[in-house]
Amino acid sequence: MDYELVCTSCGTKAADPEFRCRKCNSVLEVKYDYSMVRLDNGFRKQRITHKKYAKFFPVKGKLFDMGEGGTTLKKIKLKDHILFLKLEAENPTGSFKDRGSTIDITKALELGFGGVCCASTGNMGLSIATYARKAGLKCTIFISSDANDEKKGKIRKAGATLCNVKGRFNTALLSAEKFAKENDVFLCGDYHYRKEGQKSIIMEIVEQMEYRVPDHLFIQVGNATLLAATYKALLEFKMLRLIKKLPRIIAVQAAGCDPLVRAYEKGKPIGYVEPRTYADAIAVGYPTFGFEGITALDGTNGIAISVKDKEIEDARMELYDKYGIKSEPGGAVGYAGFLKLYGEEPSIFRDKKVAVIITGNNESWPKSL
Ligand code: F0G
Repeated sequence: MDYELVCTSCGTKAADPEFRCRKCNSVLEVKYDYSMVRLDNGFRKQRITHKKYAKFFPVKGKLFDMGEGGTTLKKIKLKDHILFLKLEAENPTGSFKDRGSTIDITKALELGFGGVCCASTGNMGLSIATYARKAGLKCTIFISSDANDEKKGKIRKAGATLCNVKGRFNTALLSAEKFAKENDVFLCGDYHYRKEGQKSIIMEIVEQMEYRVPDHLFIQVGNATLLAATYKALLEFKMLRLIKKLPRIIAVQAAGCDPLVRAYEKGKPIGYVEPRTYADAIAVGYPTFGFEGITALDGTNGIAISVKDKEIEDARMELYDKYGIKSEPGGAVGYAGFLKLYGEEPSIFRDKKVAVIITGNNESWPKSL
């Protein structure tokens, strides 16, 4: 699809490889010319994979892919509601991040870069390292000090240079942005391009539910890229009349790292929170797409809630004990949010369809608190 890059805040146009507005430093957005989108009759019949949604991605030629997407949507009929679990650990590197990495790496190749870099709490770094290796690109990952050692080991094994940053994710982010500018490598990570790739999860869920949307959709939040991407994808599907309504989105954060929840509750701009949670994947003190995340909640009559580490661990255990699903702590946060709300007010969910995204499983299981 034809597109342009614009600033999410002041609307200034941008050009590759910019990743923030040169006037106000806000994140950018991909704006499409939707008049060009034609979904022929075969679209619905095509096998469900991430690649299927290439029309909704900002790529000019072939999408660089490693067979991601087409993950299971497990349907569980419970006594008063139906639960749908989207199993994103099935992706090539064990998390939903691979969908975004297809766009990051495709753009790096399209623009002729020889190397990439990325800041990460772990999963995104592992995904980019793996995809970059396959694409023949040099890769440097800036990892937060609280990242899980297993993930660090896997990133090194994938052949990337691992830079241990003395600080949390937002410090790693600054290091990666500086490194990209100074070394002429393509900056991957939670910016406008990755956001486009993360859209395919909800697109798959909608198709797997035969073009119905869940009544409630639970999403865990770190940088809020997945949250913002999900909302964008839903608006695109609605505009193209593939769906009629939107789900109510419930954003879930760890109580020890809940900047989006605080901003949502107070109706104030996002402020930095020093992360204190064992769910290391989502230990992001200042979410890059925080503003867009709040917009997604406003647009879907949604809410933001937080869950304690103990609730996350209980949810993770329940996923395994009841359904045989393995998840790392960060991957089970949405499910912990569902259990919390269901425990408080089960009537909200009576006869409803509830979808929860289980985002990844890249840590040994079980991990005790
Ligand atoms: N779940 C997992 C397993 C994650 O690794 C992340 C983010 C999220 C959820 C949150 O998604 O950032 O789009 O709101 N991980 C990033 C990383 C920060 O570096 O791997 P988000």
